[in-house]
Amino acid sequence: MSANGNLLEVTGLNVAYGESKVLFDVGITVKPNQVVACVGRNGAGKSTMLKTIAGFIKPSSGTVTADGADLVGLTAYVVAGMGIKYIPQDKKVFSDLTVRENLELGSYASKDYAWDKVYDYFPKLKILLDRKAGYLSGGERQMLMVGRALLGKPKLLLVDEPTEGLAPSIVSHLKDVFREVSKTTALVIVEQNLPMICAIADKIYALSEGRIMAEIAERDQIKPEVCEKYL
Ligand SMILES: Nc1ncnc2c1ncn2[C@@H]1O[C@H](COP(=O)(O)OP(=O)(O)OP(=O)(O)O)[C@@H](O)[C@H]1O
Ligand SMILES: [Mg+2]
Repeated sequence: MSANGNLLEVTGLNVAYGESKVLFDVGITVKPNQVVACVGRNGAGKSTMLKTIAGFIKPSSGTVTADGADLVGLTAYVVAGMGIKYIPQDKKVFSDLTVRENLELGSYASKDYAWDKVYDYFPKLKILLDRKAGYLSGGERQMLMVGRALLGKPKLLLVDEPTEGLAPSIVSHLKDVFREVSKTTALVIVEQNLPMICAIADKIYALSEGRIMAEIAERDQIKPEVCEKYL
């Protein structure tokens, strides 16, 4: 943690794909155990922001600091090894591997597995352990993605649109899981489901055309009506 109590600090982040600039001077801060959300329209740059923090994209300028360590220039593999786990938007799993094999791959380097926690959060995964991941439903796949990240005891989870396309019952289940996870782990969640995210977020950033347009941190302002203006 840095001197000002932040677990993650992003400042002046500029990101471009070739000639096309996507993020402009983006800055966010996340404290330990905080649930920080990012909302914004399609194409606003939300996924790009998460991918840059996770080490998949190198910014043209700016800083990303976690626990006082500079992350810019580190590979995604090294960032993950530091306990910063990224759950991508596309829900890609290794279809030909079993659920157990998919889960283990997420923490293969450390081999420090929190199996009990994963089974507590997602009892269904325990039943599905020997099933090939390619056969999973959308909801089961998302449980696998979140379970895989949690198995490695992360200190920070970066989650990209976890509830996209899922039924209300699994959305509600994931909401409870994130709330429970936040007792020990900080979360940055990109979400379009405003009622869900407003129920768990401590702070919301609104991203529009690559810029942070608002930072909503007062409890009584964290509500769908306020966030809607930025979508
Ligand atoms: N690999 C890439 N190469 C070139 N342009 C890209 C690439 N990935 C994203 N972009 C562009 O960058 C912009 C931001 O994309 P990004 O995926 O970060 O948005 P988003 O806010 O996550 O959108 P969505 O809500 O649709 O997931 C978009 O204009 C997109 O077309
Ligand atoms: Mg996205």
